[in-house]
Amino acid sequence: MHWHPDPTSRRLHASLKWDTYPETELPLWVADLDCAPPPCVASVIQRSLDHGVFGYGHEPRSFRDAWVAHLATRHDWEIDPDWIVPVAGVVPAMRLALLAHPDIREVVVPNLAYPYFHAIPEQAGLITHRVELTQTPDGLLPVTGALESALNQPRGPSALLWCNPHNPGGAMYSHTWLTRALERARDTQTLVISDEIWADLGLNGKPHVPIGQLAEPDQPTITLMAATKTFNVAGFPCAVAIIPESDTRHRFERILHAMPHVTPLAYQITEAVLREGWSWHAALIEALIANRDRVHSWASEHPELTVSTGDASFLAWIERSDSSQTLPTGQNRLADVFVRGGVRLSDGRPFGDPEACRLNFGCHPTTLHKALDRMHQVLETHH
Ligand SMILES: Cc1ncc(COP(=O)(O)O)c(C=O)c1O
Repeated sequence: MHWHPDPTSRRLHASLKWDTYPETELPLWVADLDCAPPPCVASVIQRSLDHGVFGYGHEPRSFRDAWVAHLATRHDWEIDPDWIVPVAGVVPAMRLALLAHPDIREVVVPNLAYPYFHAIPEQAGLITHRVELTQTPDGLLPVTGALESALNQPRGPSALLWCNPHNPGGAMYSHTWLTRALERARDTQTLVISDEIWADLGLNGKPHVPIGQLAEPDQPTITLMAATKTFNVAGFPCAVAIIPESDTRHRFERILHAMPHVTPLAYQITEAVLREGWSWHAALIEALIANRDRVHSWASEHPELTVSTGDASFLAWIERSDSSQTLPTGQNRLADVFVRGGVRLSDGRPFGDPEACRLNFGCHPTTLHKALDRMHQVLETHH
């Protein structure tokens, strides 16, 4: 794995990250990596190009075998291959899961959360019950009792939309916490939808515990996973919904026509990285740890900010700390301050905190150093 020596060249290839904002801003926002994926991806694409016919595709049988093997080896989860439903993206899968249950009118979500956890229920006109998260030594975690009380709120059928590892906080939920959450969901007859797209990006050696591994197979759970984030192939959308309980699975399958198919290339790329991408992945984790440590050392020079990275992901969540009186407030939200300094981070507002912002450190160290330097300069000018 090597960082791209000239990430600005991504502008020539319709990159969301590099193309959206003015060239004067260093983009450390949307969550992809400034590097090429494992070499097996180029081989898959080259083979397809050499053949040159691009008709309808179907799911190769070996695709689900690759997922079964991956989950058994890396996540200690033995699944029945029939539980897998391929779908072209984790976000669309969350939306489909709710569309498949029109009786569900209330959902429980974490707050803070990846913006779609707020936007999907809101746009579907559902009542949302938020579980407030707070800073703890293990990252952003729910306030004690908050999940239980949120799960008791709905008056009718409901769903819990959860995110583990958590974006933006990077928390990896423990076996104990998840078991309790599942019990409460069962008691309150709540469908559990767990977005686990960050499952393979743990940086501290903590194990990821898939929700479906803990649940009894007859409890309605939908575990959503993908290789796209881990191996930086989001341009080839492909995810899996793992749904042990058959009624929940059939409902989900019946509504799949609302989505474009997973393309043949996306199937083949996902399978290739799951089988052959792991030495690349080991190098990626090392590079991300170095970048994460650089972010923390920068943060130690800025006591006016609280910067958390949790145990997984290439994201840092930046808030004002209590000693932040010297920072401007009101219109001068953190994200705006950094834009003025020439660094584009993700605005905290759609995550649930307008005063905070999220930094993506999945980039060349030179880009990161330059960005942190600019952020330092602009903070200095406010002192
Ligand atoms: C928690 C989470 N879920 C889903 C996604 C996007 O998934 P997809 O591109 O498969 O829709 C992201 C992307 O950053 C994410 O952080």
